[in-house]
Amino acid sequence: MNKAEFYQELQGQVLALIADEQDYIANMANISALLFDALEFVNWVGFYRVIDEQLVLGPFQGKIACIRIPIGKGVCGTAAKTGKTQRIDDVHQFPGHIACDAASNAEIVVPVKVAGKVVAVFDIDSINFNRFDDQDQLGIETIVKHLEACMI
Ligand code: SME
Repeated sequence: MNKAEFYQELQGQVLALIADEQDYIANMANISALLFDALEFVNWVGFYRVIDEQLVLGPFQGKIACIRIPIGKGVCGTAAKTGKTQRIDDVHQFPGHIACDAASNAEIVVPVKVAGKVVAVFDIDSINFNRFDDQDQLGIETIVKHLEACMI
């Protein structure tokens, strides 16, 4: 199975899990569990929600993590502030990277938006440098779009 087929199948699984459920915490929990199992070389998969101008830890799979991150700080805070996906090949080169798990070497963070406003971020960490390419980014952004559609 190539990467495009892999993500196509994953999209189907995500939709089957969340399409009939509007509780976004439940959906975030199942998306985290599904991707933690399905993606190779990942050590943390989860969400931070925007609450009172901070990112607060939400549903996730992996080691315990920082509970609160200021908007604008680290990779997650930068994704929340800019509203743009942050794809980092080597987190050790990212100024202000917050090392929750010392094993992490690459990271992708996709903002979750409702009505154009960032309400959460979806964060995936990898033990491999350069883990995420264009196809991973598109696949993960599409999964976030499915989640957003259930949050309206
Ligand atoms: N590395 C992130 C913090 C969250 S953890 O990776 C789970 C960051 O720099 O924002």
